[in-house]
Amino acid sequence: MSRIIAIANQKGGVGKTTTTVNLSAALVSMNKRVLLIDLDPQGNATMGCGIDKHEVEKGIFDVLVDGMSVNEAQQKAAENTCAVLAANSDLTAAEVELMDMDEREQRLNNALQLVRQDYDFILIDCPPSLNILTLNAFVAADSVLVPVQCEYYALEGLSALLETVEGVRESVNPDIEIEGLLRTMYDGRNKLGVEVSAQLIEHFGEQVFKTVVPRNVRLAEAPSHGLSIMEYDNTSRGALAYLALAGEIVRKLARAVHSVAQTPSLVEPAADSADTPSTEVANLSSAEVADSLPSTATTDQPSLNDTESVNG
Ligand SMILES: Nc1ncnc2c1ncn2[C@@H]1O[C@H](COP(=O)(O)OP(=O)(O)OP(=O)(O)O)[C@@H](O)[C@H]1O
Ligand SMILES: [Mg+2]
Repeated sequence: MSRIIAIANQKGGVGKTTTTVNLSAALVSMNKRVLLIDLDPQGNATMGCGIDKHEVEKGIFDVLVDGMSVNEAQQKAAENTCAVLAANSDLTAAEVELMDMDEREQRLNNALQLVRQDYDFILIDCPPSLNILTLNAFVAADSVLVPVQCEYYALEGLSALLETVEGVRESVNPDIEIEGLLRTMYDGRNKLGVEVSAQLIEHFGEQVFKTVVPRNVRLAEAPSHGLSIMEYDNTSRGALAYLALAGEIVRKLARAVHSVAQTPSLVEPAADSADTPSTEVANLSSAEVADSLPSTATTDQPSLNDTESVNG
């Protein structure tokens, strides 16, 4: 069973691309087959995957505008990395060209339906706006993962984003879900960050991932080398956080598949704490992430349970 996840937040610089690139790499390290789609004309995910956006010969533009197949348009920067549908500033022209096309919001969905069984996960890095490209992602996606930077205006744009997803659910994609809200660039020493994090949990409860991505300089350095955090420094706190996130997502999906397979009367309520991690990687990462937490994040803030807040 494959899962298509759009990583979106119209607010800029909240960690969408960092999450797409490193969650993809974490899933690859768990032996998942992953396709990363760069749907942002900035081409940051493309560069972060080690593909020079100035030398992109084929990619997502060709799929959306010219109807090229995903298999033909995808490429890999290296062995044991995810497949990539690359992007660069040409994609801005695609926005214009799509406007004149029939079923313009269905272009990505139509292309992905033909290949989705070839992948376990398809992750889509959306641009920082709710435009036709993001709409294509929402129509194609099974779920939306929303990175949120815990700062003053974090909650402001969220309702517009969730309303857009709701609109898509009511019209073209009735099955779309919220995969989860992911707290990014978290610093437990920052009082405001801790408060916003608590507000998120208050408003969105279970929809907030237990995994928290800490502010970690290795995550910021990795893209300048064209490497994911798994290749750049797989023992960093950033790497462990994205491994924990991958584990959280894989386990949740396994639970959902399991409960669909059961008749309703036989389904037992799933207890998170009794949950068996589906891979050793996820297991290891959970423990290690807890160990690697800055003590300030756990001791200063009684409102956050450290184990719960950082691992899955
Ligand atoms: N956990 C982190 N720790 C430290 N730096 C981070 C972290 N996550 C992201 N960054 C840095 O913050 C900046 C913005 O991150 P990123 O590009 O992932 O955001 P984005 O939401 O994709 O931005 P845009 O809206 O422009 O597409 C980048 O310089 C990135 O390296
Ligand atoms: Mg980005």
